[in-house]
Amino acid sequence: MKIAIGNDHVALEMKQEIAAFLKDMGHKVVDFGTDSAQRCDYPVYGERVARAVAGGEADCGVLICGTGVGISMAANKVNGIRACVCSEPYTARLSKRHNNTNIIAFGSRVVGIDMAKMIVAEWLAAEYEGGRHQKRVEMLADIERRQ
Ligand code: RB5
Repeated sequence: MKIAIGNDHVALEMKQEIAAFLKDMGHKVVDFGTDSAQRCDYPVYGERVARAVAGGEADCGVLICGTGVGISMAANKVNGIRACVCSEPYTARLSKRHNNTNIIAFGSRVVGIDMAKMIVAEWLAAEYEGGRHQKRVEMLADIERRQ
């Protein structure tokens, strides 16, 4: 898969490790930055990754900031994005199976690198179930249309 990845300054090292992990899994990784440890603003990178995913430039996205909260909030402002911040793999898996998340987020200050890898691996391995969940996912899109 083609996976967009983005982060703020707090998560630079974790982004680099997760990008390498994804490449080792055979995925193509498109890095939207930041590539600097200089203080920066997470909405910039959340939006970049979200637009790449919503526009079809990437199949899905991974976002990392200190908590995963700010950067996932930024991503969820983009129409068509269903981003979820997770600190364990169970939520990551269910967010794909039930909510058809197209971006996963987590916090470099919250989870260690091994947990981050487990979250990403579970999320990528999971498949959207559709069925009874489809109507609810469509209702999310309808909220966007009614803005
Ligand atoms: C940066 O200090 C921090 O606020 C950011 O990484 C993130 O945790 C925001 O949600």
